[in-house]
Amino acid sequence: MEQQLTEVTVQPIDLAAWAPYALEVQSAAFGLSPEEVAVRLHIVGRHALQPGVIALGALSAGQLVGFGYGMPNQREHWWSTVIEPHLEARGHGDWLDGVFAVTELHVLPQFQGRGLGSTLIRTLCERSGLPRSILSAIDAETPARRLYRSLGYRDLARPVRFPNTDRPYVVMGARLPLLDRTDRGPDFR
Ligand SMILES: CC(C)(COP(=O)(O)OP(=O)(O)OC[C@H]1O[C@@H](n2cnc3c(N)ncnc32)[C@H](O)[C@@H]1OP(=O)(O)O)[C@@H](O)C(=O)NCCC(=O)NCCS
Repeated sequence: MEQQLTEVTVQPIDLAAWAPYALEVQSAAFGLSPEEVAVRLHIVGRHALQPGVIALGALSAGQLVGFGYGMPNQREHWWSTVIEPHLEARGHGDWLDGVFAVTELHVLPQFQGRGLGSTLIRTLCERSGLPRSILSAIDAETPARRLYRSLGYRDLARPVRFPNTDRPYVVMGARLPLLDRTDRGPDFR
């Protein structure tokens, strides 16, 4: 109960400095093994150096309770090379250029469902200044998938298999700005 009353602010963060805390949030929200955390720490460290990276944290009493980051897609990035053939096969290859890729978005379970995820991704996309956004999500009816749909993301390619993961993914894309509740009407779900 006390936690629900704590103010949460969404603000830019230094991704490299906050990476260990971000991985704690991601572990609690998404489920990561210690080995995966170690690998992801290196990856996040590299992402922090990419041109145009935007990172936001949701902070409550100085603690990171959610975060999201992304960057303009670059075709030479590993993620882009994996999704490229899937998008090309469906005539969506143009979604790889001039688009903002949302790389990670996670909120601690006890802070979910109060608009933080939506605020994080919406603010990231606004700040990108780009006209479209893409991301990949687990290809299942998860809260994340539902949130992305409600913001205007649509399936571009599925299923997409990433090396070293068992679960199929979907690549989704949205025109920016993302939809808000008033755009969606009463039956946006
Ligand atoms: C995806 C994720 C980041 C969303 O974060 P979140 O903070 O719960 O997102 P929001 O609160 O903005 O929206 C989630 C739901 O809460 C609802 N909501 C938003 N504000 C609310 C409020 N003040 N009160 C009650 N509900 C609210 C939203 O309508 C939305 O409902 P819907 O799913 O029925 O549309 C979070 O579920 C998460 O971390 N999941 C695990 C990790 C993950 O899968 N990450 C994505 C990897 S691709």
